[in-house]
Amino acid sequence: MKKVYITRAIDQEATDLLKDHFEVTVNPHDRELTREELLEVVPHYQGIITMLSNRIDEEILDRAKEVEIFANYAVGYNNFDVAGAKKRGILMSNTPGVLTDATADLAFALLLASARRLTESDRYVARGDFKEWHPKLLLGKELKGRTLGIIGFGEIGQAVAKRGRGFGMKVVYYNRTPRKAAAEALGAEYLDFEELLKRSDFISLHTPLSEATRHLIDARAISLMKDDVVFVNTSRGPIVDEQALIEALSAGKFFGVGLDVYEHEPVVPGALIDCERVINVPHIGSATVTARRAMAMLAAGNVIAALRGEAPPNEL
Ligand code: GLV
Ligand code: GLV
Repeated sequence: MKKVYITRAIDQEATDLLKDHFEVTVNPHDRELTREELLEVVPHYQGIITMLSNRIDEEILDRAKEVEIFANYAVGYNNFDVAGAKKRGILMSNTPGVLTDATADLAFALLLASARRLTESDRYVARGDFKEWHPKLLLGKELKGRTLGIIGFGEIGQAVAKRGRGFGMKVVYYNRTPRKAAAEALGAEYLDFEELLKRSDFISLHTPLSEATRHLIDARAISLMKDDVVFVNTSRGPIVDEQALIEALSAGKFFGVGLDVYEHEPVVPGALIDCERVINVPHIGSATVTARRAMAMLAAGNVIAALRGEAPPNEL
């Protein structure tokens, strides 16, 4: 019987499905595997379900003598060396589609929360500062009629565009290759990168992390944004130069910033935690019961297909 390892406990139904076909081992700890533990595990299994924090690089692949598939429990796969795996005839897969709405909801939640200063307001009440109502108390920004700039117009970016339209926003987008049909259907206008930065009142990031997008949002990009822009990142931390973001915040830039991802996860710099205009959440874009169950079922399906010698439905 082929053997499958899951690097962190996932949905039971998906685990049971795998158990119908294979001998399944789940990381027994209530914590992430250390690098050493992962290196130990890899040589002994044919299928491995990985978390986005498991870096599957040359060192791991060299040890993956029997591995037929690494199935990422994530849509993003910047933790995978796909070329290295191909070279060795190892399959890789991800979980697209099923977390699109969950992630778009979170991006929009951060956008609204930043615009209406929700966490700041909550802390204000918790501190006991709400002694009287007054006309200038915690004034925020309205969305209607404002320009929402979406960087990365894949499935998630498009789902955010739909939400923006629902709130009466003008939607503009930047993508390496313009997505004409989708943009037309959603009433979104293509702008080049710099123009989008200059014109947007709200900016949401939805591009995958690659060498081309690392530090796409650097000091120069930030300098082109409006001073009172609301900026949200639910994609990957290293797309933003976090130090440049912190410096711009301390210089007074940004009306609000909503972050789900960080450059050196799980480290969240104190300067971001201490800044009242920043909302920090711990990489929860896909963290709904529905999305996580669907991600588990997709990952299991990819493993089952690969270990039967079929093409995994979400092969990279
Ligand atoms: C989460 O960040 C994912 O890529 O699925
Ligand atoms: C990528 O651009 C995505 O939003 O899926």
